Amino acid sequence: MTENLQTYIKNTKQLIETEMIRALQTADIPQRLKQSMQYSLEAGGKRLRPILLFASYQAFAKQSSKKPMSTAIALEMIHTYSLIHDDLPAMDDDDYRRGKPTNHKVFDEATAILAGDGLLTYAFEIIANDSLLTSEEKVAVLGSLAKSSGPKGMVAGQILDMAAETNPVDIEGLEKIHTLKTGELLVFAVTAGALLGGATEQQLNELKSFAHFLGLIFQVQDDILDQIGDEEKLGKPVGSDVDNDKSTYPSLLGLNGAIAKKDEYTKHALHYLKQANLEGSRIEQLTTYFGQRDR
Ligand code: IPE
Ligand code: IPE
Ligand code: MG
Ligand code: MG
Ligand code: MG
Repeated sequence: MTENLQTYIKNTKQLIETEMIRALQTADIPQRLKQSMQYSLEAGGKRLRPILLFASYQAFAKQSSKKPMSTAIALEMIHTYSLIHDDLPAMDDDDYRRGKPTNHKVFDEATAILAGDGLLTYAFEIIANDSLLTSEEKVAVLGSLAKSSGPKGMVAGQILDMAAETNPVDIEGLEKIHTLKTGELLVFAVTAGALLGGATEQQLNELKSFAHFLGLIFQVQDDILDQIGDEEKLGKPVGSDVDNDKSTYPSLLGLNGAIAKKDEYTKHALHYLKQANLEGSRIEQLTTYFGQRDR
C-alpha cells in the first residue's frame, strides 16, 4: 500500500474504465442501443464499487492480477443500469446524473429501459465468458451477483423505497431499504473480491457484516448530500428526495442525527473489519472516504 488513497482510486478507476469501455465497444450490439449503454457508462461515475472489489481482492491475493476485472466491470454495469432505471419518470424522475442529462432525456424512455436491460444482462455474459476464472468461481460469483442485484437484493430495496414515498417508514424500515437497495451491491463488491483473492469462510462472514454497515454509511451520506451537497460536484440534483417525499436519514433524524448515525455505523463497520484482520488496510481508508465524500 505505497500510493496514497487518491492516487489508488485514480489509477484503479482508469484501469477499470478502459477495460469496461472496451468490453462494450467490441460487442455486436445495435448501434442506438450501444450508444445509449455507452452514454451512461462513460458519463462519469466514481466507480466506487469496482474499486472496492479490487481493494478487497488485493487485501487477500498473494499477487496483483486482473483476475477480478470482469467481475468488477460487471458490477459497475449493473450499478449503472440501476441508475438509468432509478432516474426514469416512473421512478425518481431525475434530469441529471453524473453531471449530464439522464439517459431517457438524451435518448427516449424506451431506449433507456432497454439500455438498462442490456447492461444488466451483458454483465452476466462477461463473467460467464471470463477465461481467468475457474468454473467454480464463476458459479459462485454469478449466483452471488444475481442475488445481490435481484428481487431479494437491490431490486427489492428499490420497490420498498418507492413504497415508502406513500407510507413513511421508521428508522428500522429505512435501514432495511438501504441494506437492500445500496448495501447488497457493496456486500457483493467486498465479498466477491475477497473470495477471488482467497479469503477464508470466516473472513467472508466478517466482511459481509462489515459491508452491510458500509452500505448504510454510504447511503446516509447519499441522503445527507441530497440535502446539503453541491449539485455541481455531485452531478445530480440535490433536493430530489424531498421533492419525492422520500424517507431519508435527515428527514427522520435531522441532519445532526443522521451524522451521529453515520458515526455509529462506522464504529460497527470498523469492528468487523478488524475481525477480518483488515485493520489499517485500503478497505479501512475507503470506509472513511465513503462516509466523508462530497460527491
Ligand atoms: C448512487 O451511487 C446511487 C446510490 C446507491 C446511492 P454512486 O454515488 O456510487 O453513483 P456514481 O456511480 O458515482 O454515479
Ligand atoms: C438509488 O438510490 C439506488 C439504486 C439505484 C439502487 P437513490 O435514488 O437514492 O440514488 P440517487 O440519489 O438517485 O443517486
Ligand atoms: Mg431512487
Ligand atoms: Mg434516485
Ligand atoms: Mg439519493
